Amino acid sequence: MKPHPPRRLFLCNATQLVTLAGGPVPRRRLSLGELGIVPHGALLTQGGSILRVGPSRSLEREALRLRAEAIDCRGCVVMPGFVDSHTHLVFPASRVDDYELRLRGKTYEEIAQAGGGIQSSARKLHAASLSSLRDQALNFLDQFAAYGTTTMEVKSGYGLDIEQELKILRVIRSLRKTTTLDLVPTLMALHALPSSFRGHADEYVREVTRRLVPAVARHRLAEFIDVFCDRGAFGVEDCRRVLVAGKQSGLIPRIHAEQLTRTGATRLGIECGAASADHLDKLSTADIRALARSDVVATLLPGANFHLGLKRYPPARRLIDAGAAVALATDFNPGTSPTLNMQFVLSLACAQMGMTPAEAITAATLNGACALHRANRVGSLEAGKQADLIVLDLPDYREIPYYFAVNHCGITVKRGQIVYTR
Ligand code: NIG
Ligand code: FE
Repeated sequence: MKPHPPRRLFLCNATQLVTLAGGPVPRRRLSLGELGIVPHGALLTQGGSILRVGPSRSLEREALRLRAEAIDCRGCVVMPGFVDSHTHLVFPASRVDDYELRLRGKTYEEIAQAGGGIQSSARKLHAASLSSLRDQALNFLDQFAAYGTTTMEVKSGYGLDIEQELKILRVIRSLRKTTTLDLVPTLMALHALPSSFRGHADEYVREVTRRLVPAVARHRLAEFIDVFCDRGAFGVEDCRRVLVAGKQSGLIPRIHAEQLTRTGATRLGIECGAASADHLDKLSTADIRALARSDVVATLLPGANFHLGLKRYPPARRLIDAGAAVALATDFNPGTSPTLNMQFVLSLACAQMGMTPAEAITAATLNGACALHRANRVGSLEAGKQADLIVLDLPDYREIPYYFAVNHCGITVKRGQIVYTR
């Protein structure tokens, strides 16, 4: 995917221009469903940024004067590019063997206990070269762009030792230099206990806090730090030690919380001032209230529930109604959610979690940007923000989740450059 050189673009005559205008703060309750639609809308870009947004007629003269290249978006929805705030992009290979075992009746946790799961990805990662990891990730990044994602978080986490974690973070650094998409790097500091430390979680946590976290901070390899706080992974005390160490080194916490069982991870996230708490399947009513009162973005990942064949999904409706800032992301990873399609995540959010299409769109753009501390730059279409947007081949935004499991994205624009066209 070779990006075209930057130029001025005039995206005009959009049947619906979804702006999400309203400031760089997370949307809650009713405002989650307010898309700020301009009918027959247009948008003018200049030098990677948005110059103007408004009714198409009102921008025509300026577009002509600036000799902007017109793109007729008649019959289309134009909206901000998706902000996918939770991915595990860098992994060595698919886990189709685990997949088939699960289809034959084994559970995710049983497979993990038997040495499959994250451990098997880590073994393969150890043997993988930087270039093979990079090439696979670049291929996925082209697909992310084609499905309309323009900014995404990328976690390490399949290293399970210091050298291998640094290796993944270096791959992410090299990807950031190559791809046109914005990648936000996260150190997944606790993911699974390496088999060599079995029975000695304490020692591993000490290694992570004393060696890994400072090394990552020193080389500026990550902006955020994440931990998997759950049954079969790490307990609240270990996670607290690691998140606190991360904070002391300047990394911003986020947390995998209450996915398999309720551990109190969400409370830990709130206590640490986490940017987000993610998954949240097993929240208690009191947790929902606490999240709603906090600034922690509640990030829901229904792709994982879908792929694991679960009947129950995270309590999106209760979170929204309580006033939590809800975001949606893919959780792209080889074990529980091998999808990079945010449009399909919207379909799951609507059909399985009772979100409206408008709520799902805000959760997948502006609120995702808030979860990545990027809402001042991306997540909405407003003058001065990055020109990160997509043109979808349908006239009504509600048709994005409605016509499910297909790609509606016709054009992806990143910082004013067309990086994908159908
Ligand atoms: O977000 N929960 C931990 N991490 C991933 C799964 C990782 C894997 O199984 O490879 C998740 O679901
Ligand atoms: Fe995850």
